[in-house]
Amino acid sequence: MPRVVVPLAGRPYDVRIAPGLLANAGRLIARATRARHLLIVSDRRVDSLHGAALRRALGREFRIDRAVVPAGEASKSLAVAERLYGAARDANLGRDGAVLAFGGGVVGDLAGFVAATWQRGVDFLLVPTTLLSQVDSAVGGKVAVNVGGIKNSVGAFHQPRLVLADTDLLATLPRRELASGLAEVVKYGMIADAALFTRLEREAGELSAGHPGRLSRVVADCCRIKARIVGEDERESGVRTLLNYGHTIGHAFEAVAGGRLRHGEAVALGMRGAARLAVGVGWLSEGDRERQDTLLDRFRLPARFPGPRVVELLAKIKQDKKVRDRRLRFVLTRGIGSASVAPPIEDAEVRRVLAALLHS
Ligand SMILES: NC(=O)c1ccc[n+]([C@@H]2O[C@H](COP(=O)([O-])OP(=O)(O)OC[C@H]3O[C@@H](n4cnc5c(N)ncnc54)[C@H](O)[C@@H]3O)[C@@H](O)[C@H]2O)c1
Ligand SMILES: [Zn+2]
Repeated sequence: MPRVVVPLAGRPYDVRIAPGLLANAGRLIARATRARHLLIVSDRRVDSLHGAALRRALGREFRIDRAVVPAGEASKSLAVAERLYGAARDANLGRDGAVLAFGGGVVGDLAGFVAATWQRGVDFLLVPTTLLSQVDSAVGGKVAVNVGGIKNSVGAFHQPRLVLADTDLLATLPRRELASGLAEVVKYGMIADAALFTRLEREAGELSAGHPGRLSRVVADCCRIKARIVGEDERESGVRTLLNYGHTIGHAFEAVAGGRLRHGEAVALGMRGAARLAVGVGWLSEGDRERQDTLLDRFRLPARFPGPRVVELLAKIKQDKKVRDRRLRFVLTRGIGSASVAPPIEDAEVRRVLAALLHS
């Protein structure tokens, strides 16, 4: 069973990846934490599809309390976090208890935020159920809620004790959610792993169809890349920034789309834009840009998002943390499999690239 260690000084933790892993959850969790009292946080959809299987797997060894929140980004709020504090209080969850997130990135970020803050921090366990959360959000300890209309504006670094990625859970994932996760997978290929990228090109058909074996291997590869990067730079003061490839433009689209774009869909648009910028500065060949875009097409990820205006998107981008000296900096690739932060780019060039993403 693939096991990836997130090599954090003082407190490394395991990410386990395998089809059918859920059945071993009780034994693996009992080894990773001393807690025998768990507050399981889930959304309605995941709870109704897979909640019973998780509880069965945990067996009699744990005292279990459950909190179920509505599915969707709106649950990443202080109001919902407060309801979870209420659930923790009603369950008498003490410092020797743990919060277990069972769901996608929304549940993971929200439950992790509660675990980081309830009684100044309790153990945190993650059982991610979307491809996006298995390849990305479950590894690295960033937890947050959205406050004041700004995504992830209030949060913490709170690393889990264990991450269990059961790729069988992906079988019930809607096609659009699977594609959204595949966008982040393409990102890892572009920034860090040319061999992974080539395999994605070869296996694109099977991956979009949800082939469990192919997906497991991809999840393991992505977790390995993310674990290495997080191990080098837990607090994002250096190399971890590269994981934001496609996210500067992507977040702007996500913000103006008001829920009409999945996170990965917005990131796909952002990567298409970033690749154009990279060609413009002479870092990426036109051929490699086409390879990226063709792969995104094969995963049926959007190439255009008509509606917003260029000025609106540019304003959102400028709110982004990475603006320095009022000129924009982007993570760009120097060929497939390698990325760096590029020198500042003129607004006119960014506008040109944004316009291309708005019109066909
Ligand atoms: N912490 C990080 O490092 C990090 C990184 C990337 C993204 N994120 C966050 O992750 C969130 C997006 O995560 P997401 O894409 O997983 O979205 P999500 O958690 O909203 O899940 C997407 C949808 O899939 C459903 N679902 C989940 N598992 C399912 C399953 N196995 N079968 C059927 N349906 C299932 C959910 O109910 C939901 O409706 C965003 O809030 C983003 O900010 C965090
Ligand atoms: Zn992302």
